[in-house]
Amino acid sequence: MEVQQRTVDVDGQKMMVWERGPADGIPIVMVHGFPLDHSMWSNQIDGLDPDGDRFRIICPDLLGCGESDTIEDGTSMEQIADQLAAMLDELGVSEPVVFCGLSMGGYVGWQFLQRHRERVSHLVACNTRASGDSEEAALGRKRMATSVVLMGLQPIADAMMLTLFYSDPASSEDDGKDEENRVKINKTIASTEVQTIAKLQLAMAARPDMTEFLNQIDVPTLVISGRHDTITPVEEMREMADSIAGSTFVCIEDAAHLTPLESGQEFNQAVRDFLIGG
Ligand code: MLT
Repeated sequence: MEVQQRTVDVDGQKMMVWERGPADGIPIVMVHGFPLDHSMWSNQIDGLDPDGDRFRIICPDLLGCGESDTIEDGTSMEQIADQLAAMLDELGVSEPVVFCGLSMGGYVGWQFLQRHRERVSHLVACNTRASGDSEEAALGRKRMATSVVLMGLQPIADAMMLTLFYSDPASSEDDGKDEENRVKINKTIASTEVQTIAKLQLAMAARPDMTEFLNQIDVPTLVISGRHDTITPVEEMREMADSIAGSTFVCIEDAAHLTPLESGQEFNQAVRDFLIGG
């Protein structure tokens, strides 16, 4: 089945969405991290559903990211969650969805679940956290929001590349895939609008602490972490999973922060095991 590129109207802005799978498949909304776009889910678009008949995979570019229109000043994680609900209305998806978010996509996921509970059947929280920012972390984001305007994106892209991927120092094997992914992600970051970086950083700095929400979660939840993730460390993610009743926790061994891209097969297997038992 072909990948379809759709344009939907959200808050008067154009949001681009990549979709694959039958209209009556289990809808799974995959929300990217900061400051990426739908292409970080390429392994899932291509490989989550090998027969192409089980899942309706829906990967938006959040406003300000990828090919979507710009993001408004003062946009919050809550508003982004509401924009995704509007996107689903536009796509005609009224049944509950599997919400799968990575990192910033996970922050949006808590808000989506809290504000649109009836629209969620399952949650997949990847490489993310429930706590809000410390004062120091929020200050760092505010500094980045200013410095990006002065210095441009390449320094940010270069710095982020050091933490997004895992390289095994003992391995001399490289099938070129890893390098291809790094080049792709570096390009995505470096071509993001400077204003998007600033606005999303401010939105993340202001996001609420959702730790207390975890024990209210009443949908089946899968938590996926990467053994070498230094942004959202595995111990913190395990603790988070322990606070969500009945959740399933998976740690992917050869990955850091971008588990779906770094270890596509393991990631897809974990999601399939969770949703359809294999
Ligand atoms: C992400 O991958 O979305 C970011 O690391 C989230 C963050 O900066 O907290």
